[in-house]
Amino acid sequence: MPQQILYTPAATVLPELTADADRVFALCDATTAQVCAPLLSGAGFAPAATPIVIPAGDDNKDVASLSHVWAELSQRGASRSSMLVCLGGGMVTDLGGFAAATFKRGIRFVNVPTTLLAMVDAAVGGKTGINFGGLKNEVGVFREAEAVVIDTAFLRTLDAPNLLSGFAEMLKHALLHSEDMLAEHLRFSLDEPDYAALSRLVRQSVEVKSNVVRQDPTERGLRKALNLGHTFGHAVESLLLERATPQLHGYCVAWGLICELYLSLQAAAFPQDITTRVSRFVRQTYGAAPITCKDYPRLLQLMRHDKKNRDGTISCTLLAAVGQLRLDYAPSEAEILEAFDFLREG
Ligand code: GLY
Repeated sequence: MPQQILYTPAATVLPELTADADRVFALCDATTAQVCAPLLSGAGFAPAATPIVIPAGDDNKDVASLSHVWAELSQRGASRSSMLVCLGGGMVTDLGGFAAATFKRGIRFVNVPTTLLAMVDAAVGGKTGINFGGLKNEVGVFREAEAVVIDTAFLRTLDAPNLLSGFAEMLKHALLHSEDMLAEHLRFSLDEPDYAALSRLVRQSVEVKSNVVRQDPTERGLRKALNLGHTFGHAVESLLLERATPQLHGYCVAWGLICELYLSLQAAAFPQDITTRVSRFVRQTYGAAPITCKDYPRLLQLMRHDKKNRDGTISCTLLAAVGQLRLDYAPSEAEILEAFDFLREG
C-alpha cells in the first residue's frame, strides 16, 4: 500500500488516524517524551494513548529497547488491531517501525518525525530496524508506516547542529532532482532559518524521496540514488565513532557529497562549477572534515565493509548532471584517495 504522507499539525490529525484502533500506543524516547509529546497535549489523541518510553540515542537502537517495546505492547494488551505512533527522530521511527512490523506478525504504525533528518529521510520509505553486533541497521524489514505526519512545528525544537544534519539529506535530494531545487537550497540561510520556507523545502524533499521509493521500495536499483554521498559519508561517520568523536550523520553525508561529486566530475563529467558551489557551501556550513591522510587506510577498510557492497566491491552513486544518475560506480583505490584529498584540500 502506498504510504500516506500528511503535511499537517500532528495534534489535529492523529485522533482521526488512530480512530479505528482498539488501543493506541505512543512510542517516544526520553527526549521526545519531554520536548515533543507536550506539543500534542490538548489533542484527543494524547490522553488516550499509552506511552512507551525508551532511552534516547542511536546506541539505544538495540535489542534491549526493542524487547522493552514488545514487552510493553504485550503486557498492556496490544492486539493486531492496535496502533503504534512513533514520535521522534530516526532512532524512534526505525525501532518503532520494526517493533510494530514484528509484534503479532505486524500491527499498524504511524510515524511522526520530530527531527529534520527523520522528516526528510528516516521516517519515509519503509526502512525499519535496529543496530546489531556493532553494525548499524543490521537487522530490520521493509514495512511502510500507515501514514507519516510531517508537522514542521517540531523543527523549532531542534538545535542548530540537528537542523544542519537534516539539511544535508535535503541537499542530496536537491542534487537528485533539479538545478532549481539545488539553487534554492544553496541560497537557504541556516544561520537564521525562515521556517515557512524550510517547511516548503521539506515538502519538496519528501516528495523527491517518496517518488524514488514508490518506484523501487526494496532498493533493487533506483533507490540506490538515495545513497549519494553515503559511501564516503558512512566511512567518515564510522571512523569518527571509533575514535569516540562522533559526528551527526548529516555532517558526514555532506562531506561524503563533496567526495562523490568530485568522483562524478572525474568519472561522469559532472559540471565543475556545480561541484565547486556545492563543495563551498558544505565547507562553509559544516566545516572541514576532521580527517587526515593518516586515516586513509582505515577509511578504505571501512568502505570495503560497507553493507551496500557486493562481492567486496566498493560501490557509489554518481551523477552525470544534477538529476542524472550513474548507479553502481566502482571507484579504484586511487580514485577514492583522490576524492578524500579533494575533501581535505579542495
Ligand atoms: N536513507 C536512504 C533510503 O531510505 O533508502
